[in-house]
Amino acid sequence: MNTAFKEARSQTLNYHIDYYSKHELFEGGSWLEKPDAIVMELCKEIKKLDAPKILDLGAGVGRNSIAIAQILNNAQIDCVEFLDLACKKLDANAAKHGVQNSIISHCLDLETFVIRKNYYDLIIAISVLEHCSSFANIETIIQKVIDGTKTKGINRLEFTTNRNVIDQDTNQKINTKVETPLQSDDLETLLKEKYKNWVITKLSLEPYKENLLYEGKEVIWQSIQLNFIAQKI
Ligand SMILES: C[S@@+](CC[C@H](N)C(=O)[O-])C[C@H]1O[C@@H](n2cnc3c(N)ncnc32)[C@H](O)[C@@H]1O
Repeated sequence: MNTAFKEARSQTLNYHIDYYSKHELFEGGSWLEKPDAIVMELCKEIKKLDAPKILDLGAGVGRNSIAIAQILNNAQIDCVEFLDLACKKLDANAAKHGVQNSIISHCLDLETFVIRKNYYDLIIAISVLEHCSSFANIETIIQKVIDGTKTKGINRLEFTTNRNVIDQDTNQKINTKVETPLQSDDLETLLKEKYKNWVITKLSLEPYKENLLYEGKEVIWQSIQLNFIAQKI
């Protein structure tokens, strides 16, 4: 493991431990306030199935999986998350919201999780794959996600790409730390190739900009969110 990767991984762990310690699931004003709107929309389709199987990679404390379990009948949702604290909170949140029969937490690195072939009706990975250890490993995981999806099953992926963070005092660019920095062009090419036999219903690039405090500095954070939905035919 190189130093840049170790630093990025350490920052990912620390950021999420701190955030999940300070904010509760569905807390107003936090990014845990609401589930992903696209996932909620997709659930209208999945709702027609009896006992649907869902995989949530990098599930956190259950922002999406618990909301999914609340609206689907009899769903089985495998949640993969490597942070011990998040897994414990996910289990506690599932019990609190009465969906513990639907949520199965797997507390491990998603890069080691074995995805059963042709098994899932819906696989989601929201703001997580950029935390994998290399672009090649992201490719491998996407292939496993593709293989793990049933015919007519859906994949919903979201990535943060093209991070550009400027120190407001010095106007200089700050090198943020993420395990695998992604460029939207590379990812778009990869997704179009991998999903060439599927129906891609969304592949959008949405600019994101926020003034925030990063490592004690006032910064302008800019990135591009790549939102992706595809259905296996
Ligand atoms: C930005 S959060 C998003 C959480 C969740 N997907 C959501 O939308 O609320 C990313 C989550 O992925 C987890 N994570 C990052 N890399 C991971 C990996 N390699 N294996 C498992 N979980 C990972 C983090 O601990 C964190 O909980």
